Amino acid sequence: MDFKKRILCIGAGYVGGPTMAVMASKCPGYKVTVVDINEDKINRWNSKNLPIFEPGLNEIVKKTKGVNLFFSADIPTNIREADIIFVSVNTPTKTFGHGAGMASDLQYWEKTANQIIEYSLNSKIIVERSTLPVKTAQAMERILKSKSNGLHFEVISNPEFLAEGTAIKDLLEPDRVLIGSHQTESGLKAAQEIVDIYSHWVPRGKIITTNLWSSELSKLVANAFLAQRVSSINSISPLCEKADADISEISFAIGSDSRIGSKFLNASLGFGGSCFKKDILNLVYIARSYGLFEVADYWEMVVKINEYQKERFVRTIIETMFNTVVDKKIAMFGFAFKANTTDTRESPGIHIAKKLIEEKALLSITDPKALENAKIDLAGIDRTVVYEPDPYKATEDASAIVLITEWEIFKTLDYESILKRMKKPPFIFDGRNILNHSKLFDIGFNVYAVGKPPLNHFD
Ligand code: UDX
Ligand code: UDX
Repeated sequence: MDFKKRILCIGAGYVGGPTMAVMASKCPGYKVTVVDINEDKINRWNSKNLPIFEPGLNEIVKKTKGVNLFFSADIPTNIREADIIFVSVNTPTKTFGHGAGMASDLQYWEKTANQIIEYSLNSKIIVERSTLPVKTAQAMERILKSKSNGLHFEVISNPEFLAEGTAIKDLLEPDRVLIGSHQTESGLKAAQEIVDIYSHWVPRGKIITTNLWSSELSKLVANAFLAQRVSSINSISPLCEKADADISEISFAIGSDSRIGSKFLNASLGFGGSCFKKDILNLVYIARSYGLFEVADYWEMVVKINEYQKERFVRTIIETMFNTVVDKKIAMFGFAFKANTTDTRESPGIHIAKKLIEEKALLSITDPKALENAKIDLAGIDRTVVYEPDPYKATEDASAIVLITEWEIFKTLDYESILKRMKKPPFIFDGRNILNHSKLFDIGFNVYAVGKPPLNHFD
């Protein structure tokens, strides 16, 4: 079949895979190929057992794979053939050298830029899809221009706003698509090509075009604002626990003000995921590097409150269980950083598990999808950890349940029968406030939630 254009995506991860699957399904005239340096990952995309889980992803991939969606490990040939290259490689926080713990590690980006130069025979549009520090496009352009042999690479920013667990829905019905470009003739022309792709399914009014730097910065700021809401409500939760107020009632009361809005106000044991912490630290690093110390300190507090919240949660568990968890079996309900994903990157569960292991607790971790990743996260320190797909088995003889992830299944378990087989006194720590606390208390549990006065049978 003759395709109108050839789109390539470098990076077949949580962002690249779903984005390209949706793009292929909505743009049958375009050939969409996804490459990755990790051949195993490509093999899995080409099998029935996809490397990531997202509701709705399997169905879309099934319809498009082999029609106009292809996964390949052949990076050179695909770069050569592509008209438009989306770059969706990971940009972790630097762990070494200048900016360690704060700045983005751009080594994969630079490698990718060099590969593009090496294998290209014609001019192309390069689209930044990963979240990047502001002015990355400039660095990318400098690399691309330095050895371009007369070819022109127009760099466009098109940040992703997809949340894991709802990635397909977010891609199919986005609140907005953001496309940033240079305001030059060639920049605007390239931006229009990307607008044309999204116009296949996104109303034009939802496609926002800006200059390159606004687009890059908007992505960091969007994540910083979302994380800030979670940290803001979490910062009020210790106050509620002391003052006999209920954080869920407060979230509802303040969220009913249309100026505030109701989303992202669920108090929790802390936010996780690959983006929030990394992106805020990036923002902090950039602000500090421009000498904007007050701005940097302001946003850094969002991360600090999150660390405090995770720490506070684990401290409550230990103090409540009479200051010792040595040899006590604790069932961890969930390990993923949120529901409906296998992803455990930056999950508060990792921090909680490590602390409890340090305190010599015997963990039994149950999660409908994330046990494989939990094993990787705790490798080397999990001698006393059991990974148990069945929540009923995970709680047998346990002294406590610690709920980490808001999976639906945890709401519908038979807690009476669970309680019968647990050690007494039984504790439940709900890090997501999703369980029916008064009912659990009535059947005999001592219940501790985030931002709510405890319900215990001791006084
Ligand atoms: C990543 C970033 O973490 C996120 O900030 C950004 O917004 C989008 O890209 P994600 O897709 O979740 O998000 O990362 P990951 O699932 O790790 O996928 C990245 C893929 O790029 C990996 O499969 C990796 O093998 C691949 N990669 C990395 C390359 O193909 N080439 C490289 O040089 C480096
Ligand atoms: C986020 C952004 O939402 C998305 O737009 C961006 O492109 C990537 O980063 P993601 O990290 O996948 O997406 O999930 P998100 O739904 O934002 O949740 C992040 C964390 O905050 C999770 O650990 C979640 O459980 C937590 N959270 C969220 C809360 O604790 N309370 C809330 O009210 C909302």
